[in-house]
Amino acid sequence: MKLRYKVANGILIFVAVAIASLALVLSHNSDCEPAPTVSAETELMKAIVYRCYGPPDVLRLEDIEKPVPANDEVLVKVHAAAVNPLDWHYMRGSPYLMRLGSGLGAPNDPSLGVDFAGTVEAVGSNVQRFKPGDEVFGGRTGAFAEYVTVREDRALALKPANVTFEQAASVPIAAITALQALRDKSKVEAGQKVLINGASGGVGTFAVQIAKYFGAEVTGVCSTRNVEMVRSIGADHVIDYTKEDYTDGGTQYDVIIDNVGNHSLLANRRVLDPDGILVIVGGPKGNWLRPLMEPIKAFVLSPFVDQELGMMLAQFSQEDLTILGDLMQSGKVTPVIDRRYPLSEVPAAIRYSEEGRARGKIIINVL
Ligand SMILES: NC(=O)c1ccc[n+]([C@@H]2O[C@H](COP(=O)([O-])OP(=O)(O)OC[C@H]3O[C@@H](n4cnc5c(N)ncnc54)[C@H](OP(=O)(O)O)[C@@H]3O)[C@@H](O)[C@H]2O)c1
Repeated sequence: MKLRYKVANGILIFVAVAIASLALVLSHNSDCEPAPTVSAETELMKAIVYRCYGPPDVLRLEDIEKPVPANDEVLVKVHAAAVNPLDWHYMRGSPYLMRLGSGLGAPNDPSLGVDFAGTVEAVGSNVQRFKPGDEVFGGRTGAFAEYVTVREDRALALKPANVTFEQAASVPIAAITALQALRDKSKVEAGQKVLINGASGGVGTFAVQIAKYFGAEVTGVCSTRNVEMVRSIGADHVIDYTKEDYTDGGTQYDVIIDNVGNHSLLANRRVLDPDGILVIVGGPKGNWLRPLMEPIKAFVLSPFVDQELGMMLAQFSQEDLTILGDLMQSGKVTPVIDRRYPLSEVPAAIRYSEEGRARGKIIINVL
């Protein structure tokens, strides 16, 4: 064999071994660690924790240390929290690539849940915007607990008085995603035709209402049992996906918000206006590259076509929480609540979320 073939073979073998080793490290699940012991003087609170990756059985309701707010933090007594697919992605450490951030083998941070609403119990010495007794809502890891601490300049906003804690808790991830997909990614204008695939889920129920608020003509896609609900929250047209495939229809949409990812990029492009915008919000489940396949294709193709194609990652913003609070206060947006579970039943709530059949939001009542 010539030297250059030997070198090429060597490089190939090295790359293959490196990829296989990385795959092994990323997919390895360590055993569940026992809860650390806490001293008798420590003030405790109840919280859902996970000390290893896996199905909802890995979740435990434990007494853990109650957080103390730093100078720039607010301590919130949680009344209600909400479940998002993000929670079970963290719980399972899937797709595996996310473990580069969340922890190899086992989670770095055992706390779970993000969306919450509650009452400010205490504030750090530098906090100016919030005071004890304020009713607030926001997002912070560890929301499936009796208390969370949040920096005052992060994802925290005052809850309007006419909005319940359950309604406010359902907003942060799902409604911010819907708002940013429509306003920032699609720049939706009045009169535009907007299709929302997955219109009956957490993101979808907010997206239908927010798109209507922007004056769009909205088509929602859902299954038979959700057709009336999606119509009742404002959709002008509803496509029952069990009877009709929206990518086979004759309508061209200015904007498609895809919360499901069950159609190929090619199929979505067929029903997208030549200058239209496709926002990929959700995708199929998968531990490796499957959830990323359509976003990768969209990223590669987008520079060569007039249509704008791409995925989005929502960013928490205090300003957007305030906008959503105002929209709820004025009745322009009303969260759709599906099921309610007590804190001790978070595993059942997450099991339900993983089925992918939620009608609006799943709420955890903590208080
Ligand atoms: N990119 C981001 O920043 C971001 C942020 C939030 C969420 N996400 C992702 O977005 C996706 C949606 O999140 P979510 O909170 O809305 O989830 P969800 O509440 O669990 O969505 C469930 C809904 O999906 C619908 N659905 C299932 N299969 C469908 C199909 N083939 N066609 C149309 N609808 C279908 C279900 O309706 P039926 O029962 O009627 O089928 C159900 O109402 C998830 O993948 C999530 O991870 C991404």
